[in-house]
Amino acid sequence: MSGDRPGAAAGQAWSAQGYAHHAGFVATLGRPVLELLAPEPEERILDLGCGDGALTAELVAAGAEVVGCDASVELLEAARARGLDVVQADGHALPFEAEFDAVFSNAALHWMTRPGDVVAGVGRALRPGGRFVAEFGGMGNVAAITTALRAVLDAAGIDALALRPWYFPSPDEHAARLEQHGFEVATIELIPRPTALPTGMAGWLETFAEPFLRHAPAAERAGLLARAVNLLEPALCDGAGNWTADYVRLRFKAVLPAG
Ligand code: BEZ
Repeated sequence: MSGDRPGAAAGQAWSAQGYAHHAGFVATLGRPVLELLAPEPEERILDLGCGDGALTAELVAAGAEVVGCDASVELLEAARARGLDVVQADGHALPFEAEFDAVFSNAALHWMTRPGDVVAGVGRALRPGGRFVAEFGGMGNVAAITTALRAVLDAAGIDALALRPWYFPSPDEHAARLEQHGFEVATIELIPRPTALPTGMAGWLETFAEPFLRHAPAAERAGLLARAVNLLEPALCDGAGNWTADYVRLRFKAVLPAG
């Protein structure tokens, strides 16, 4: 669910229903990265951080032979209910060896905070000449939101400055990492993508802010969330009450040498 989702990171609990309700836009907005992947019939593709399988199903519809993987048992159940072939796996320790033509990922890689391990595992999973095509949060992603969360925790006496629950690299940083693991980077770009939030900032925070809120006593969390919403309103809410999140995407295609 993939969004911003559950890549394959441990530590966040996911509700498939809550994810679809508050973050159903994640799959809808994933179309450009699907186009960059350009799946071919009968290709074998791994969907890394497949979440509830909304985009995995589109790869299957394109005629590819697709395996989805995610860390979240809840989301995998939702993917299985769509009839998809999915397995539970930690994206930092992918258990595949030279068996895929492509590895695809949407809105999941930012949950995997040891990116070197992830890229190494993708490199192992691909056949020679295979491609890695993905989109996830890049440098500056949800900067206002995370700054507000740090501010409310800080004001409550909780040191949040060092919290780095997500990986949001610059294009240069991520390209260097791909190259260190033997990939040639065909394209990589940072794309600001302000994103309308169907259930407002409260819905977004309820779905995704747990990596920050878990550091506060349970009894204080609702108050901290309300304070964060107030802080963000002047920047991210229009006069009609419509909320927009300050998303920035990093989209790339990288290829292994044909060998
Ligand atoms: C994202 O898709 O950019 C995202 C979603 C949830 C938490 C962090 C980032």
